[in-house]
This record gives sequence, structure tokens and C-alpha cells, in this order.
Amino acid sequence: MRVAVTRKIPERGLELLRTFGEVVVWPEQLPPNREQLVEFARGADGLLSLLTEPVDAELLEQLPTVRVVSNFAVGFDNIDVAACSARGVAVCTTPDVLTDTTADFAFALLLASARRVVESANAVPRGDWKTWEPLGYLGLDVAGATLGVVGMGRIGAAMAKRATGFGMRILYSDAIVRTDAERELGAERVDLETLLRSSDFISLHVPLTPETTGMIGAKQLAMMKPNAVLVNTSRGPVVDNEALADALEKGTIWGAALDVTNPEPLPANHRLVSLPNCIVTPHVASATEETRANMSELAAKNLIAVLQGEPPLRCLNPEVLHG
Ligand code: DGY
Repeated sequence: MRVAVTRKIPERGLELLRTFGEVVVWPEQLPPNREQLVEFARGADGLLSLLTEPVDAELLEQLPTVRVVSNFAVGFDNIDVAACSARGVAVCTTPDVLTDTTADFAFALLLASARRVVESANAVPRGDWKTWEPLGYLGLDVAGATLGVVGMGRIGAAMAKRATGFGMRILYSDAIVRTDAERELGAERVDLETLLRSSDFISLHVPLTPETTGMIGAKQLAMMKPNAVLVNTSRGPVVDNEALADALEKGTIWGAALDVTNPEPLPANHRLVSLPNCIVTPHVASATEETRANMSELAAKNLIAVLQGEPPLRCLNPEVLHG
């Protein structure tokens, strides 16, 4: 068996793959482009992909030996699952293992934005710390504030759980009732407009789909409170960058903290980067040693299971396994 891994991932997963077959790992820091990927993965039975690699019908056509695409991510908007299913290619992902780590980071961004952590820390090396200032770097209180969770799935619920420790009121706007979140976290279900109008902090946890693309644009930003903070650890295109930059510049909302942007990477000269009330981090919410090792292990196990004809732990289209 031959497995192509599209970037260096933690050894834990690579070791598992090596016990199973021949493993080639794309050696560069930057992802392979389409042509390079086709060349690199030619003849592979399994592809261990990252969210930076679009996997579509054209790629599958050029890699006809691939029987499984195992994504090193919980998100799978880089993969055309229907195209994979149509060719009998299994698609696997790495949910659960990154839930707490991602929620920790989302909450860290919330706190950092509310308390102006990045802005005030950056003042010190500049020599701008002159004295203790009664009016310097005034932020927002988090304790007792209202958190609006857009997307009360695994990570959204983990974010809400953290908020309960801060005595926050929790709103969510999913189309379906999240009984566990209501019972265990006291979350209240409202429509999106009510959530946007009532929340002090809004945290996005939806997958990227045609319905969620541009879900937070000028109209939605205008509904937010002037002291609202928007946190995005989901996918960049859920938010309209330009509308957000306008709102932050005009001060119609208080701040934003974005671990995901559109595009990625966001150019260093983008206006969101230079706004003092916007924190941008380079898509690192799941980046801890342990979580990335766990992701590599799960991605490897998924891939091996499919190629061995066993049920993978996490598969999006299990019907192809029995076809
Ligand atoms: C994912 O898993 O989808 C994240 O964006 C990266 O961990």
C-alpha cells in the first residue's frame, strides 16, 4: 500500500502509517500546487490531506488509485465529498480530538480582545509604558456578559462550557434544538437576529457551507451592539472581511478576534491586520503538541482502516465502504 501525506505531520501518525505501507511526505513548508500534488501522489492508495489541499473531481480523476482521502482536520470544506462518493472514495476527518483545544483558543481570543491583551502587550517593547494610567487600555468585562454561540456543535458547546465558568448568559441560534446545551449549560435558543442584537460576545462555530458563506456581513454587523466582540475560529469566508473592517474602523462594533480569514494567509498589509481593535492569528486554534499528535493518529487510523476494509473511526460517506 502506498500513502501520500501532503505535509509533514506529527510523527505519531506517520509511524502508524509506516507500519502499514510505503509513506511519502510532501517535504516543503508550503502546500503542493495541483500539478505537484498529482505528481507526488501518483499511484497512492490513500491520501492524507490538509485543509490547504482542494480535493475535487478533477484531482480524483488524475489520481485514480486513491481509495481514501483522510483529512487532517475536522473541517472538510476543502473536499468535494459528493465527487469522492461518486468515485467510491472514502472521506475521513478528525473530529473530537481537537474540540477542547479549539474552544480554549476561541475563549483566549475572546478574553484577549475584551481586555486588549495584544494591544497593551505591544505597547511595552515600543516604550509606550510611561506610567500607570487610569484611562489606559480600558477593556470590557467578560464575567456576567452574554455570549452568542453561532453553531452549537461540539466546539460551540465547549466554548459555551467555558463561558459558564465566567457566569455568562449563553444564547445560540441553531436551526435545531440542542437539548444537551440547554440542559447542561443553560443555553437559550433564539433566532440569529436576536442573538446578534443581544450578545456582547459572538463566537462563530459553523462549518463552511453555501448557507454559511458570508453569513456575517454588513447587515448582520449592523445588528450587533456597539460593545460587541466577534470571535471567529470557524472558517474565514463565514465573515465578510471588508464589512467587518468597515465596522471596526467606524467603531460600530468594539472588536474582533479572527483565527481564520478569507483568504488565508491574510496579506500582512490587509486593513484588518493594522486595526488596533482586531486580533488576527494564523489559523492555530487546534495547535497544541498533544492535539496535533492526536489528529495525526486519528487521520492515520482512519486511512489504514479504510484500506484494510475495516470501518474507519470517522468517515463522512460510510456508504462507499459497503458499495
Ligand atoms: C480543522 O480541523 O478544521 C481546523 O480548522 C484545523 O484544526
